[in-house]
Amino acid sequence: MRPRLRGWAVAALSGVALGLVGAAPPAAPTGDVKLGEAVYKEICFACHGATGDGKGPSWLNTMPRPQVFRNPNYMARLTDQYLFEVVKYGKLAVLRRDPPTTVESLAMPAFGHVLEEEQVPALVRFVRAFLDGGPQPAEIREIYKDACETCHGPNGRGDGPRAISAQPAPRSFVSEGQPAPADYADPVFMARFSDEFITALIKKGRIGVIEEAGFDTMKPYGHVLSDEEVWGVVRYIREVLQKP
Ligand code: HEC
Ligand code: HEC
Repeated sequence: MRPRLRGWAVAALSGVALGLVGAAPPAAPTGDVKLGEAVYKEICFACHGATGDGKGPSWLNTMPRPQVFRNPNYMARLTDQYLFEVVKYGKLAVLRRDPPTTVESLAMPAFGHVLEEEQVPALVRFVRAFLDGGPQPAEIREIYKDACETCHGPNGRGDGPRAISAQPAPRSFVSEGQPAPADYADPVFMARFSDEFITALIKKGRIGVIEEAGFDTMKPYGHVLSDEEVWGVVRYIREVLQKP
């Protein structure tokens, strides 16, 4: 009985591990950088910027601001398969797990029902303080420990227990699911969010902030791009823009 149980547990665990390994790039290495560059310069540059700095001509029209592909700290936390699916299906569909997805998405949960109204702005300041060194009152740290630390980590680096070191430590954690939690100490990353956005995010969660609060996210491009073009643009982002 005992060995059988152990065997089952091991199988279950390695099943999880395999699922995550399976999320690693299967078709990615064949993506054509040249094809990806053409796609990028036609469509993506408008928001993400010609150099991947997140500041294309339309960057001020979205909240959150477009992802900064030049930011290796954040980008190392995302698998190629996740990037592919976000571009093909759109981020909302991936977070909701609508597509026949092979990545396990981990959307930031909603806390509006468990937090007092005034605790939310206090948490926004607490989160910002990882970067600007502002005060982090003990009672808000308690809330952070209970509600946020499991994903965001003790110092807000996105390396809590629900992050696994599927990529080399120390800084390049990939979370248990995609997308990886934020690194609050990263100025480039945090500059993409207004206080209004973060407030709504904490209250309504990552899906609610889009569906209920009406904030933006990455739209799907699968209807205008072939899979080859999407893999190409993933390669272009990784090999040309991200420059690790
Ligand atoms: C209309 C503006 C716009 C265009 C055009 C656009 N994006 Fe985005 N993209 C965004 C925004 C805004 C985000 C941030 C979404 C968020 O944080 O919810 C984003 C995020 C992303 C992400 C990161 C998702 C994450 O979870 O961090 C990837 C990858 C991406 N875009 C790829 C592309 C590619 C490739 C193209 C071209 C085919 C493209 N985008 C075109 C606005 C745009
Ligand atoms: C189950 C894991 C989990 C928990 C618990 C969690 N978060 Fe998150 N959080 C995430 C993930 C994943 C992201 C990245 C979302 C994205 O990029 O789409 C995120 C992103 C964020 C961001 C950055 C904005 C963004 O869209 O990336 C802030 C700020 C944030 N969380 C605050 C909090 C606070 C405050 C708490 C506690 C009240 C908390 N989170 C609890 C998973 C979690």
